[in-house]
Amino acid sequence: MTEDQLALELGPDLVDLFDSIRVFDQVDSTNSELIRQIKSEPTGTRIALANSQTAGRGRRGRQWQSPANSGIYLSVSRPFTNSADRLQSLSLVTGLSVINALAANLIPELLLKWPNDILFQGKKLAGILLELQQSESQLNVVFGIGINVALPERTIAEIDRPVTDLYAITGKQADRPKIVATIVRELFANIQRFEKEGFAAFQSDWNRQDNYLDKDVVIHVGEKRINGRSLGVDQSGALVLQTDKGKEFISGGEIIPTLRGATE
Ligand code: BTN
Repeated sequence: MTEDQLALELGPDLVDLFDSIRVFDQVDSTNSELIRQIKSEPTGTRIALANSQTAGRGRRGRQWQSPANSGIYLSVSRPFTNSADRLQSLSLVTGLSVINALAANLIPELLLKWPNDILFQGKKLAGILLELQQSESQLNVVFGIGINVALPERTIAEIDRPVTDLYAITGKQADRPKIVATIVRELFANIQRFEKEGFAAFQSDWNRQDNYLDKDVVIHVGEKRINGRSLGVDQSGALVLQTDKGKEFISGGEIIPTLRGATE
């Protein structure tokens, strides 16, 4: 994909929102690239997209496999004025923006896995990594979005969890510039709404598309594991878990597969 193709799909109104739109053939990580750009100039709204990444990063220190032309490797950054403690729910809003953008591109049956994975039939299609860059003058958030488009067999074999890609789901070549533009449009509209109304405005849409609502799950929080039944997310984006000891509200962590057969 080229910068011109992307700009065409974004359209003039969205292009105008950004101070920088870059498409790399190869980069270490689009998140790292935007963090470097922010360090040298903290103001500005940016997009970095790559056809491949040599050091793609996932959540919890994991790698994100990023072979050439096999995925969408997208990062978007924007300055924020409010505090970093709302980052967790902003990451849920990002997941919701991506799932809604994919649905608008006719990718069917997708569901969310708290906090922000996107699943198709229990297999991971997309993941999101939000990173904060705080300087004296400015707080920036980098929204990193990885979507599997057409992964080589050997990459699928290397990943230690069930994964899928757009090609396996639709049987068609994905229109990557169009999907990226839809995601950026949806994400920026939702960020504006989030700033006005908070996560509460997204709570019911999120729970409606939750793969694990009313299912038994195990949550990984730091080194701790908590078992319970998922009751969905509350108004702040915390996961509500019915455990033997009562309700617990979890605001940092992720769902891991249960031994009782729930798929990840
Ligand atoms: C996860 O599910 O663990 C999050 C994966 C996030 C991957 C994307 S790809 C674009 C951006 N650049 C990175 O290095 N990571 C994110």
